[in-house]
Amino acid sequence: MADKSNKIKEKVEKLRQEIEKHNHYYFDLDSPQISDREYDQLMLQLMELERLHPQLITEDSPSQRVGGKPLDAFSGVEHRVPLLSLSNAFNFEDLKEWDNRLRRTLGEQPQYVVELKIDGLSVALYYEEGYFSTGATRGDGLTGEDISSNLKTISTLPLALRESLPLLIVKGEAYMPKGAFKTLNEGREREGLPLFANPRNAAAGSLRQLDSRVTASRALNLFAYEIQLVEGKEFQLHSQVLEYLDYQGFNVNPNWGLCENIDEVFSLCEEWEKKRAQLEYEIDGIVVKVDMREHQRLLGSTSKSPRWAIAYKFPAEQGVTRLRDIIVRVGRTGVVTPTAVLDPISLAGTTVSRATLHNEDNIKDKDIRLGDMVVAQKAGDIIPEVVSVIKEERTGDEIIFSFPTKCPECGSKIVRPEGEAAARCTGGLVCPAQRREGLIHFVSRGAMDIEGLGPRVIEQLLDSGLVEDAADLYYLQWEEISQLERLGEKSAKNIISSIEKSKDNPLSRLIFALGIRNVGARAAKILADRYNNMEDLGRAGFESLISVHEIGPKIAESIEAFFNEDHNLKVVKKLRDAGVNMVEMEKTDAPLSGQKFVLTGRLDSMTRAEAREKIESLGGEIQGSVGRKTNYVVAGEKPGSKYDRAQSLGIAILDEEQFRALINEGKS
Ligand code: IVH
Repeated sequence: MADKSNKIKEKVEKLRQEIEKHNHYYFDLDSPQISDREYDQLMLQLMELERLHPQLITEDSPSQRVGGKPLDAFSGVEHRVPLLSLSNAFNFEDLKEWDNRLRRTLGEQPQYVVELKIDGLSVALYYEEGYFSTGATRGDGLTGEDISSNLKTISTLPLALRESLPLLIVKGEAYMPKGAFKTLNEGREREGLPLFANPRNAAAGSLRQLDSRVTASRALNLFAYEIQLVEGKEFQLHSQVLEYLDYQGFNVNPNWGLCENIDEVFSLCEEWEKKRAQLEYEIDGIVVKVDMREHQRLLGSTSKSPRWAIAYKFPAEQGVTRLRDIIVRVGRTGVVTPTAVLDPISLAGTTVSRATLHNEDNIKDKDIRLGDMVVAQKAGDIIPEVVSVIKEERTGDEIIFSFPTKCPECGSKIVRPEGEAAARCTGGLVCPAQRREGLIHFVSRGAMDIEGLGPRVIEQLLDSGLVEDAADLYYLQWEEISQLERLGEKSAKNIISSIEKSKDNPLSRLIFALGIRNVGARAAKILADRYNNMEDLGRAGFESLISVHEIGPKIAESIEAFFNEDHNLKVVKKLRDAGVNMVEMEKTDAPLSGQKFVLTGRLDSMTRAEAREKIESLGGEIQGSVGRKTNYVVAGEKPGSKYDRAQSLGIAILDEEQFRALINEGKS
């Protein structure tokens, strides 16, 4: 009998370990190793055994994490200690004032702990005699909702403490990681369900589920950051509290730090404001806390918030506003991008009244209509975008947007090639929008870097007919420019001198500036290094282009197409005639400049084409046969008659090793 019950106990233990392991794969590592069905089977086996042998049920069994049946409603929990909120600082001045006040009250400079302000839902976690007993939402601070069974589905919430205490109340933040939020919304979109506006709403929605199985499927997580009440333990410092929470098995956010003064706090605030986009979870600010608990006690709390802590809030990145209109913008390559016109809203510290809608499919998929209330977002340096629609706010007067079929600027047809998301204006350089955008790109920093030619001046130059294409810039006179509205002699002369200066730019900048489709700054540099001058690039053709390392068929095709277009050849000629530099590196500056090479035999470490490319990129020249003017013959294995001829003429013969030494030397 005893043997049998031992066996059952062992089996239960094994099942629990197995389930915990898969919880870890699923919730922590986001990488499940078994299917949901197999997981459910394990859980069912465990629950069945526990039903038959209730004496084996433990508080921390994984079966206790998942509520078996839906709850009717949440019951209220009266908080043992009121859950206070934090007062806010919206700028460094507010923080400075707070620090001044504290130093005045304490008569000394307190040490601060700086923590990330996790954008989730605050919860209170009760542990009695070492076991998790209740978890509650904040509610009104005095009474919250009992969401214990839902919280138990969070795998990083310890169900049993490492060190048992009579009572421990921990405060923390439940949140949904960005990745889980994206996956959740993608699934909901497929199923035609309303989308969650942001991870915080998704976390709140998931924790308020009456069926814990739904919560369990939502990959929530939790950070612990405070001890509200503890019996059987004392702490001198808040930093010790964080370390202790970590020891007890809580998930403590590792990005906390100690600061000796408020200036150090400022630099951490700045650092995290920059780095927040890289985090796997959303933060909406920084929490600054006084480290010494004795200091905390002396400072006390108001009825709403402690005086010893403050939240420095980052400017909001998301907000709700009305979408008034949708306009389309034509870019330099003709791509037609729909843009939302919004009622102005402050996002991430700037006023936003335009936001991208990306493309036609996005508008359709999100069912964005004129007049809708929408969630707009501006994160870091990213262009503002419309994230979602608040459909509950619809009145029925919203208008479905139909994507234009004709370019609003030139009237040409807009086409959308099969399988592509982008729609394009077919007007080419006839389209004023494409001309304007092309010129804006030509003069931009990474391209020809011509100062003083902002979008407004470019528009004036085009409108007045002074300029039709980029090459025309190089034929402008300062007197002509100075006649444009709001441009005097001085700025006109400055523009001319900046245009002059740009003539000496290396070829790579010019290639990039020409705005050849698919050719970014990096590809332009690679091409300039390989061909060294515009003429050779123009003549190269698809086969040669594609043999260049890192140049794929798309780029090769675009370049070939560019140089097959009469209009483009005319522009390039006009640029050349104006004296614009067309070489990457002056031949005389290149390390192998003026040196003539002949290749014979097979090389081990590179193909002939590679050897040729290398020599040419260093300014050397390749000859087909050995002559008196040949400087070097590179002889690989099994060289041909060229070797003998070189010997008879007394020309330097390099074996592979010597050749490699030469080109590597050339490189440095
Ligand atoms: S301490 C008594 N620390 O921000 C003060 N709160 O706006 C307890 N929050 O209600 C709060 N991260 O939900 C604290 N590291 C952190 C936090 C944090 C997020 C939330 C918490 C609080 C709200 C105040």
